[in-house]
Parts: sequence; C-alpha cells; structure tokens
Amino acid sequence: MYKFYYLVLVYLFVVTVADEKINQERFLKIERLLNEQRNEIERLTNEGEEMKRTLDIQGMEMMHLKKAMGNVIDENKHLNKLLNSESKTRLVDGTDKLMRPKERGIFNHKERRLLVNSGDHGDRVAFYAFMSNNEAILKHHTLTFDVTKVNYGSGYNNNTGIFTAPASGVYVITTTIHPFINSAASIDIIVNNNVQGSIFTDSTEGYETNAATGIVIAWMNQGDVSFVRTSANYNSYGSLYSIIINRCSFTGWKISD
Ligand SMILES: *[C@@H]1O[C@H](CO)[C@@H](O)[C@H](O)[C@H]1NC(C)=O
Repeated sequence: MYKFYYLVLVYLFVVTVADEKINQERFLKIERLLNEQRNEIERLTNEGEEMKRTLDIQGMEMMHLKKAMGNVIDENKHLNKLLNSESKTRLVDGTDKLMRPKERGIFNHKERRLLVNSGDHGDRVAFYAFMSNNEAILKHHTLTFDVTKVNYGSGYNNNTGIFTAPASGVYVITTTIHPFINSAASIDIIVNNNVQGSIFTDSTEGYETNAATGIVIAWMNQGDVSFVRTSANYNSYGSLYSIIINRCSFTGWKISD
C-alpha cells in the first residue's frame, strides 16, 4: 500500500517538474519575442527621425531655392524695365531724342569686359574657384573647389584644391565657407607647412547658415603651395553648403613682387 502511495508521489513530482520546464520554455520564448519587437520598434523610431531630419533639410533647401528664384525673377523684371525705358539723349546737333538703353549702347561694356578676359594675360597671377555642390565635412581634410572661374598663371589645380605660386611675390589668399544647418567647422588656410590663418563657423542654431571668410597675406616663393583644410584640432561636423545661391570659394592673387 505504501509502495502505491510512493509511486503516486513520484509520478506527481515528475509531472510537476515537466510542467515547470514547459512553462519556463514558454516564458523564455515570450521574452525573446518581446525583445525582438522592442528592437523593431526602436529601429522604426530611428528611421522615422532620420526621415524627419532629411525632410527638414530638404525643406530648408527648397526655401532657399524659392528665395533665389524670386530674386532672379525680380532681377529680370528690373532689367526688362531698364531695357524698355526711354530716356532723353542729347544728340550732336544739340537736339534731344528719346532713346532706349540698347540704342544708347549702355550694355556694350559687357562685350568690352569679355575682350579684356581673353588673349594674353601677361604676368598676372590670380585664381578663383568654388564648390559645385554640398559636401560632407571631414576632419583634417583638404577642400577641393572644383569649378575654376579664373586661373591666370594656371597656378590653381581643381582636382587637388592646391594653388602653386607660378611666381614669387606677396599673395592675398582668401576662402569663404558656408556651413550647412547643424554643421560646424574650423577651417585653416595653409601656406606650405604652416597654418597661415584659421576661421571658425557654425550653423547649429535653428535654420541659420553662418558663413565665414578668412583672409591671409603671405610671401610665396615660386613653387610654394597654398590650400584650404579642415582643422586637425577640432572635430568639425556636418556639411559644407555650396549651391546656386551661396558658394564655398577659394581665391588668391599676387599683389606685388
Ligand atoms: C578644371 O580644370 C581643368 C584644367 O584647368 C579645366 O579644363 C576644367 O574646365 C576645370 N573644371 C571646371 C568645372 O571648372
């Protein structure tokens, strides 16, 4: 009889332990599931925030472009008015005649300027280049201004961003940097191995884009180099802002021998 009770007890114990084990496995499964779902929710939240940031930035660019477009339209209106406006011009014979600007030839100076820019440049040394597009800010990184607008003396290289003095003399070197929103940068103007000048600019407040210009003067021997680089001493971040309404640029010219 005791043997029977004993067997029943053992049976109950085994069943209980087995149940416990199954419960525990179920619990672990549910816990795993919950963890996975929490990770998924976190991932989706991050993705949402990233999208919002991108939208903010695009909205900002749109706003700037709209403003620029408005300016171009205004400028066109102004020019049209100017072109069609008549004003009195005194003729050689002493009489007055109503003439339009085109007839008076006030736009001829543009053609004259083009003539000056072509042909022989003599020993002039001057360069001017800007960035065609926005780009990420990297630490201790030489900036490349890819669009060359002026390059008398052919000292500027738009592949490397480096200006090599074609002649010895005193030079003015200057750079203008527009940081994009939520960006900050410390920028050096380098001449040979020296940091000749530094500027700091940041756009971390609201939708500001605060540009900065740095200007240095340096003696450069023929073959000496100058370029613009993000500082090694500051963790610059964000991106540079260079679109049709605002350009990051690099300029230099020789002022004397
Ligand atoms: C870059 O420089 C080369 C060589 O001087 C020139 O031919 C080219 O037009 C320049 N590119 C731009 C976009 O200014």
